[in-house]
Order: sequence, then structure tokens, then C-alpha cells
Amino acid sequence: MRALLNKLYDENHLTKEEIIYLLQNLDDEHQKILFEYARQTRLKYYGNKVYMRGLIEFSNICKQECLYCGIRASNTKADRYRLSPEEIIHCCETGYQLGYRTFVLQSGEDFWYTEEKLIEIIQSIKALFSDAAITLSIGERSYEVYKNLFEAGVDRFLLRHETASRGLYEKLHPGMSFDNRRNCLQVLKKIGYQVGAGFMVGLPEQTAEDLAEDLCFLKQLDPDMIGIGPYIPHCETPLKGSKGGTVDDTLVMLALTRLLIPECLLPSTTAMGTLDPKGREKALNAGANVVMPNLSPIAVRAKYALYENKICTGDEAAHCRQCIERRIRSIGLEVDMGRGDSLKHKRGQASQLHSYLI
Ligand code: SAM
Ligand code: FES
Repeated sequence: MRALLNKLYDENHLTKEEIIYLLQNLDDEHQKILFEYARQTRLKYYGNKVYMRGLIEFSNICKQECLYCGIRASNTKADRYRLSPEEIIHCCETGYQLGYRTFVLQSGEDFWYTEEKLIEIIQSIKALFSDAAITLSIGERSYEVYKNLFEAGVDRFLLRHETASRGLYEKLHPGMSFDNRRNCLQVLKKIGYQVGAGFMVGLPEQTAEDLAEDLCFLKQLDPDMIGIGPYIPHCETPLKGSKGGTVDDTLVMLALTRLLIPECLLPSTTAMGTLDPKGREKALNAGANVVMPNLSPIAVRAKYALYENKICTGDEAAHCRQCIERRIRSIGLEVDMGRGDSLKHKRGQASQLHSYLI
């Protein structure tokens, strides 16, 4: 086991079989070593910095039926909302004043926000805050729409692959296509976005093989950002009563991800804080380097209920900012309020500039 961890640390590579072996045989002693290697790797690539993103959950209306998700279309108990373009821009204003330079606009798959409406919102945000980055997380759209949104100024796009195992994906996503989801990620990359993929840990029937497949898929895709969180059940979904993921299992996946894709931006998710009051600090200590405090209006926070007992639903944006900052400092890390672009992206820009100059 030690030799395997050393290989992972030195070479940032393991075969699928080695990952499965590691997942099935990792004891407490080696888990500590894994987290330490992940921390060292984060330090080597990104230093002590934790990047802050202001999250705006702008609609909980969704046309999809993901079995695990609390805002799935057929949950008639969900109290639905949409923020107007003005309300979204107002959230960005609040965020900008608090120092944020990345806004993550997330929603269900809500086609009320047409390409035209989205472009208008994006152009308004960019006109007001030209030094801020915009990340979209709105699900699957066509190549044309993705391209036009990119040209309107969107910098990054988050689209978790959810699980890289076809069988499991198809069971969990009725009416959706495994191939299309993966194709969207390729298309987003090709267009020029900084791309985020990712998956949930502890899905019903998920095995060590499935999780190893997730890591192999990510290694191959090489995204700029990787969102990994525990699956947490919601009582108004077909998966109610299922067990859900644990903080410990998610920490192992975060640490492995940091070691396999060392340059990625890796959030410490709200779902981790929901399962454990110290979950976000633990994630940062296992290689994560991004946090996404909430900028959504308090009136809608609890309505964006993907899972139960979500934290921070009653806290003002300024409170969240301070709370997270305190948590980051408490473990000896530093807050970075800059745009926090991925290293890969920065390198791409530098080489473009270089070829322009010579
Ligand atoms: N609709 C967009 C999409 O499909 O990418 C973005 C919003 S979606 C609700 C954001 C993420 O929430 C999903 O990618 C999924 O991984 C996560 N999620 C949904 N239900 C969850 C649950 N019950 N527990 C943990 N995470 C969940
Ligand atoms: Fe919102 Fe702690 S992050 S209160």
C-alpha cells in the first residue's frame, strides 16, 4: 500500500486496478498518508491559497428527473422559484462589494432562461464587473448555445458527469443520455471554457469499480475544476431512505483526485459541511482548494434543496463570507479573493501571449 501511495505521489498516476485495490484496502494509517500527500501536492501547485466563489442559485425549476435530486421535475412538494435578471445582477453586486471576483450561476435545467436572456444577464454582469469571472452551471444545452454563451463572456462551465459508469448513470437519469453528457464536456472544452466535471460519492449501488472509473475518466478528461461531494438523500425522491455517502469516503476521493489531477481546482462542498460541521475544513485538509459561499437571496436559499438539511440557508452573504474565511484561517490556509483561474488556463494564456510577442 505504501509503495502504491508513493507511486501516486511521485507520478500522479495509477491504473484502474491499482485504484480499486487502494479503495478496498486503505486502512487508517495509510489514509493519513494519502491526505498528507494530497495536502503537499496542493501546496506544491497552489500554495496555501483557497479560492472563493460566490454562488448564486438562480432557479430551482428543472425539467430533468435525476433520481437523487430534491429539485427533480416531478417533486410537486418543491417550492419553485426563479430569480429575475435584475435579482441575479443584484446578487453579483452584493458579492462584488464583499470582494468576490468569481460568480457561479447555478440552476436546474430551466429553459425559461433562453440563450437570449442568459446572454443579456452575462453581458450586464461583465459590463458592471469586468474583472470578475462568470461560471455557469445550468446543465445540458446545444453546441450553438454553449458557443454563444462563451462568446458573450462566460469563462467557465460546471457540468458534473455524475458517474462515469454507463449502467449506473442510466439507472439514475431517466430520459437523459450518458453519451450526451460526456459529449457536452468535450464540446465545452473545445469551445474554450474552463471546464468542471465531477461526481457524487455513496450513490446507491455504487462500487469501488465505479469510483475508480470516475477517477480514470477525470484523469483522461483533465478538467480545470472537479466537483466531488457526498450523495445526501432527499425524502421527496425515489431514492428516499437510501444510505447516502460519508465524509470519510468523500475525503478519500478528494485526496486521490488531487494526486491524480494535481492542477485541478477542487471545491470543498457545502454537502461536506452538511454532513459534518468540520466537513469543509476536512476537505481542505485532504487537498481541496476552493469554497463556494452562497450569495443567493435568503428568501430562496432553503428552496434550492438538492438534499436534506442543507446548511447556511439562513445566513446573509456577508456572514457566510466571514464564516468561511474564519474556517479557512483556522486550519492555517489563506483566502484568495481573486478570479482564481486554473493553472492550465493561465499557462494557455501565457503561451498565447508568448506566440503573439515573438
Ligand atoms: N442542473 C445543473 C446540472 O445538471 O449540472 C446544475 C444543478 S445540479 C442540481 C448540481 C449538482 O448537484 C449535480 O451535478 C449533482 O451532482 C448535485 N446533487 C444533486 N442532488 C444531490 C444530492 N441529493 N446529494 C448531493 N448532491 C446532489
Ligand atoms: Fe454560510 Fe458558514 S458558510 S454560514
